[in-house]
Amino acid sequence: MTSAPRHILVTSALPYANGPIHIGHLVEYIQTDIWVRFQRMRGHRCHYVCADDAHGTPIMLRAEQEGITPEALVARIGVEHRADFAGFGISFDNYHSTHSSENRAIATLIYERLRDAGHIVRRTIRQAYDPVKQMFLPDRFIRGKCPRCGAPEQYGDSCEVCGATYAPTDLIDPRSALTGVTPEQRESEHVFFRLGDFEPMLRTWLASSNLQSGVINKLQEWFIAGLQDWDISRDAPYFGFEIPDAPGKYFYVWLDAPIGYLASFKHLCARTGIDYDEFCRPGTTTELYHFIGKDIMYFHTLFWPAMLHGAGFRLPNNVFVHGFLTVDGQKMSKSRGTFITARTYLDHLDPEYLRYYFAAKLAPALDDIDLNLEDFQQRVNADLVGKVVNIASRCAGFINNIFAGDLCVDSADPELEVRLRAAAAALAVAYEGRDYARVMRDIMALADFSNQFIDRHKPWVLAKDPAARDALHRVASTGIELFRLLMIYLKPVLPRMASAAETFLGCGALTWADAERRLGRHRISTFSPLKTRVDAKQVAAMVKASKATLGPTESAMSASLSDPLAPEINIDDFAKIDLRVARVVGAKQVVGADKLVELQLDIGNETRTVFAGIRAAYEPEVLVGRMVVMVANLAPRKMRFGVSEGMVLAAGPGGEEVFVIAPDQGAVPGMRVK
Ligand code: MSP
Ligand code: ZN
Repeated sequence: MTSAPRHILVTSALPYANGPIHIGHLVEYIQTDIWVRFQRMRGHRCHYVCADDAHGTPIMLRAEQEGITPEALVARIGVEHRADFAGFGISFDNYHSTHSSENRAIATLIYERLRDAGHIVRRTIRQAYDPVKQMFLPDRFIRGKCPRCGAPEQYGDSCEVCGATYAPTDLIDPRSALTGVTPEQRESEHVFFRLGDFEPMLRTWLASSNLQSGVINKLQEWFIAGLQDWDISRDAPYFGFEIPDAPGKYFYVWLDAPIGYLASFKHLCARTGIDYDEFCRPGTTTELYHFIGKDIMYFHTLFWPAMLHGAGFRLPNNVFVHGFLTVDGQKMSKSRGTFITARTYLDHLDPEYLRYYFAAKLAPALDDIDLNLEDFQQRVNADLVGKVVNIASRCAGFINNIFAGDLCVDSADPELEVRLRAAAAALAVAYEGRDYARVMRDIMALADFSNQFIDRHKPWVLAKDPAARDALHRVASTGIELFRLLMIYLKPVLPRMASAAETFLGCGALTWADAERRLGRHRISTFSPLKTRVDAKQVAAMVKASKATLGPTESAMSASLSDPLAPEINIDDFAKIDLRVARVVGAKQVVGADKLVELQLDIGNETRTVFAGIRAAYEPEVLVGRMVVMVANLAPRKMRFGVSEGMVLAAGPGGEEVFVIAPDQGAVPGMRVK
């Protein structure tokens, strides 16, 4: 390496402290960790910090439900998160919490500087208020009928059935998801950050930094739409930091969340003597990079640089954005067993398999990436075990058994070695640019050449010929050298395998520069297989365990016994409802509506089409043939996808736990239920 060492601070987004780390999150932490490990191997000083995102209403409510303080909840989840990340080899230098003294201090400082520079304004707004719970309700905590299509139980900001977006005040019959009461509209003074003040500065930043084209396009859309003031306060009760000059008001979680990057770093600096101020100063030569998912771009590419700049801090050199994970082409799903937590994965499979698989899929674009479980097995087995490990296992035995572990100084194929060595430069460029898919493809091509070299020279044949001892020594030693080069290149992705290889090679910690020299005359240790094949049974067991650990769903958590009853009806009202047994004779997905299944229901003398919101609980196919109970005399309702001619009854907390009722044997389609 010729360039001077860089001094770099890297972050991954701070996971919310109210749920487990899952394989979707891991796309990001693995992507970041590979980059950080690569920088360190290149001899740069690279600090990697993260923290739990501890504040906000959902965390406050969850703690309340569990009967513990938010602090206790956050502490418990923090322990789990740290263990999960350690399991996947994520090499944080510090893992902190946004509920920390450092974060309070920096958030206060940034707020006061923004205020003193005139970027903070106050305004009174009207907002939904739950008079029973005595709190203002975030949009997500208001449910009601969609004003456009009439679908029940929709959130306060958008309808999941017809896709409409609206204000919570537009909902028909709005209810608090916490208590079921009708929210009131109340006024309250809020604190706003004037994002619009920063448009020129953001435009300059966009032009001068090396943002991904997908990010630039988004930013330009937002500029055209106009930059709105950002509401950075929330009324008590709220778990967060009280705003210094606004008693009873708290910083909105998203204000202090990114500041948590700096707080975690400051905590690290205090422990290690790194110069924190040098990293904060405009004009510094230190570098700052944030890795995030595409869902949180607005916060990181508008609010965050504006806040930093407005408070006299340096700007990030770049914000690296990745897409979302799908499993077998679909959103992760608890009912399909593809909502796989980090812990469940670790219970069944080697974490480095996932690191490798994600690396093989990750490119520097915002596209979603798919974990295809079949492809995962094949790829890991073919590439890691079949190609890379194979090179060492085909050669190590000869060196150990015949040559007492000593490698030969001469190469059997200097050209091939040069070729592998020369690849370092292009691989480094691709790592730097986060084009890991390219890196993995190129490394596997080099592994193919290496195996072909062994195939050509057939050391197992040479070993039978005492006259070919020198040739055997050269060939097997060259195989080990090729393996060593490949392990250098793979080390950012497979740190544990690299460490086992370092022990086997007896070569100390491999750095990128080690690719420039040969191992030469050297003694290696005995070889034990560095990776074993993935067995389909392990994958199946993991999927099964993921189905088994179905936690309570969101809706179950927010459903409440204090949900008030609908107005009383008499027996005549009840008699008006015609409940019939129906047989599901057809069921299919509805394009554009994740939650819905289109059912064909046989009720004896006719077939009805009904759209049921049970997709999260059932794959359409499994419903065919089942008996359900339906409301047969409900007025047909026109939906975006067609007309729904009735309603299916089901029980359960909702989401993925909805149970259609299959009556006892003897039930016949069309039979009246009451
Ligand atoms: N707490 C905020 C981030 C604050 S950063 C100052 C948050 N937390 S999160 O837990 O929801 O997500 C953490 C990171 O994981 C985000 O970058 C998010 O995009 C990423 N992912 C969460 N689910 C994901 C997938 N299914 N796929 C890929 N990345 C995903 O957002
Ligand atoms: Zn709707």
